[in-house]
Amino acid sequence: MDAGAFDWTTTDGPIDVLLGEHRTILRVLDEVERESRRVENGAPLRESFWRDLLHFCDEFDSNLHHHKEEQLLFPALERAGLSPGSGPTAVLRDEHLRSQFWRTRIEQAMVARDRARLTATSGSYLDLVRAHVLKENQILFPLARRLLSADELDSLHREFRLYAADQRVHHWLKHPFALEAESI
Ligand SMILES: [Fe+2]
Repeated sequence: MDAGAFDWTTTDGPIDVLLGEHRTILRVLDEVERESRRVENGAPLRESFWRDLLHFCDEFDSNLHHHKEEQLLFPALERAGLSPGSGPTAVLRDEHLRSQFWRTRIEQAMVARDRARLTATSGSYLDLVRAHVLKENQILFPLARRLLSADELDSLHREFRLYAADQRVHHWLKHPFALEAESI
């Protein structure tokens, strides 16, 4: 699949963009689960796979996806009435931080070539991120469709496009995980 087929800017709206990114994330998590099982079953530790995962976490998850949510969607929802300190966006921001924590633990285990710690930390990372994605898909995104007006959704979509045009974000498109992802 060439990078052109992976053009999220052609989707219907900003929530569809984020749903598409979640599908990509879930597919990567499935790969991580498979690789983790291989390690558990004694297969050689493929450092390139784990380096790719860390790269994906940094470039796609944090720089692209979390940025759109934390800097653009969540503030729009808070302007529409959600409490920044105690509402769902506060919980989800905290989960983003926790996913960073597990990402760092995976890196430490990989560098130490500690197979047991690598599979255990990967398991914690998978559990957290899968539950987090489900929560956003089932609670936050329907809430966003209800709370934000058509104009607000349009302006969010424009901001997403502007951000996606950033050169840093194009970097991950060459990533092997990205090649597996469906077009959205
Ligand atoms: Fe998300």
